[in-house]
Amino acid sequence: MQLPDENIEYNYQRALAQPAEAWTPLAELQSQHLISTDRFDAFKKVAMDVRGVVGAERELLNPPAKLRPLHSGFIDLPQKLLDQFKRKQDASEVGKIIRISNRLREDVDRIVVLGTGGSYLGPRALIEALCHSYHNEMPAKLRMGKPRMYFEGNNHDNDPLQDLFELLENTCVDPDLTDERWGVIVASKSGDTLETAATYRAVKAEAAKFYGPKSPMLKRVIVPITGAKSKLRELCRAEGYADEDVLSIPEEVGGRYSVFTPVGLLPAATVGLDIRAMLLGAATMTRRFLEEPFDRNPVLQFAAVNYLLTEEQKKHTRVTAVWTRKLEAVGWWYDQLLSESLGKTGRGPTPVTMVASRDLHSRGQQHQDGPRDKMVNNLVVRTVAHPAVMVGMADRNEDDLNQFSRKGLPDLMESAHKGVTDAYAEAARPTADVLLPALTEHTIGQLLQMLMLATVVEGRMMGVNPYGQPGVEAYKSNLTRHLKATPNLPKGEVRDAAKGA
Ligand code: PA5
Repeated sequence: MQLPDENIEYNYQRALAQPAEAWTPLAELQSQHLISTDRFDAFKKVAMDVRGVVGAERELLNPPAKLRPLHSGFIDLPQKLLDQFKRKQDASEVGKIIRISNRLREDVDRIVVLGTGGSYLGPRALIEALCHSYHNEMPAKLRMGKPRMYFEGNNHDNDPLQDLFELLENTCVDPDLTDERWGVIVASKSGDTLETAATYRAVKAEAAKFYGPKSPMLKRVIVPITGAKSKLRELCRAEGYADEDVLSIPEEVGGRYSVFTPVGLLPAATVGLDIRAMLLGAATMTRRFLEEPFDRNPVLQFAAVNYLLTEEQKKHTRVTAVWTRKLEAVGWWYDQLLSESLGKTGRGPTPVTMVASRDLHSRGQQHQDGPRDKMVNNLVVRTVAHPAVMVGMADRNEDDLNQFSRKGLPDLMESAHKGVTDAYAEAARPTADVLLPALTEHTIGQLLQMLMLATVVEGRMMGVNPYGQPGVEAYKSNLTRHLKATPNLPKGEVRDAAKGA
């Protein structure tokens, strides 16, 4: 596989206060709100030491109690999957994912992806970043057999699910026609997440109505992805699934770190994305993290800059500004990664995703002029995939745009980015840029792996365990208690639509 030089970089100079020759109001603000270069230089050694700690954790087969849970399996997983594919081809995990994705593409025109948290945001981030922006609306011929994708099972939200059933009932009438068939990918590592489990039961019942309750198609078009010892695994066994038709999330990989397991890879492969290029990007980032010095190591740079701004400069709100809406779901994915990994024991930055330039017209004022509690990480893609939409000349120039007639939307976007980062810099508000040369499987692989590694490094810098999410357990057990206390409806009765939640 030949790939262009597509390394992503982190440009953080605007987060540092350069030594000032004379006192100015701006120099004063910078000294208060940015990281001093002396502090930053001294911190590089700390970052390198933490890299050693995170690297060593990969080798721990039996971690001490204070390190548990330890789910560092995601770090080496991309390279392991690639090596195994090279050795075993079709018999490898990647081979199996490709086989099942080909089968789904041949069998169905629509897929409902069920999952929540890491089992939802990972696949959604990959698909929105890399597929056609109107993928589901494209005619089958233009999609070249790649199924439409719908995301459910991430909520207890009645009406959107009923809307989806209505859509399926009206567009999928004849199970003998490929372009009217639909399938399901259900991902849950624990198998006991109620949002996903309850939706799965309802979706399975719909599928049984469509294909017939005993149809062999059901096991072909419904693909479970789960952990080794989950309730979903038990359910699959009880329903007679062959082991090779159930995909696995390795125990040593945590939910929000699972994008490069079948959770992300199967939906991605099913819509025709090159999952090997994705894994190669992720493996390259792991290698850069483990081997490169600080000045060529975007993981350590990102972790150090964001740690120092949060912990020492009190920038507790971390804005991810994505400069293409194709990366909005990557922003949501990072929001979850950061919240569940570092939001512990009263600490941790609060993540917010915004799409630029769109949200500059809603949040821009607050970021420029509101509380000085923010760090903005821009995710910038340097090239566009399609020819530029030009402003063009027009006979009527009342809008005064003829002066820009030979400029295109990418020029407008670049000027907006320069404009807003200049404005923040002039007010000593910290920003930095993650630069992607292009939006491809390879760069997305690098980006997601970089953010996962940086989150773990940042957690270790803070002294917070980046794995596990004990805070969510309280919500889950309270939910079950309330649900058990809710009176059952009489057998066969369906809750009245007007009664609401
Ligand atoms: O990071 C995590 O572990 C969580 O966000 C999970 O991904 C989420 O709760 C879904 O869990 P499961 O895949 O077990 O249904």
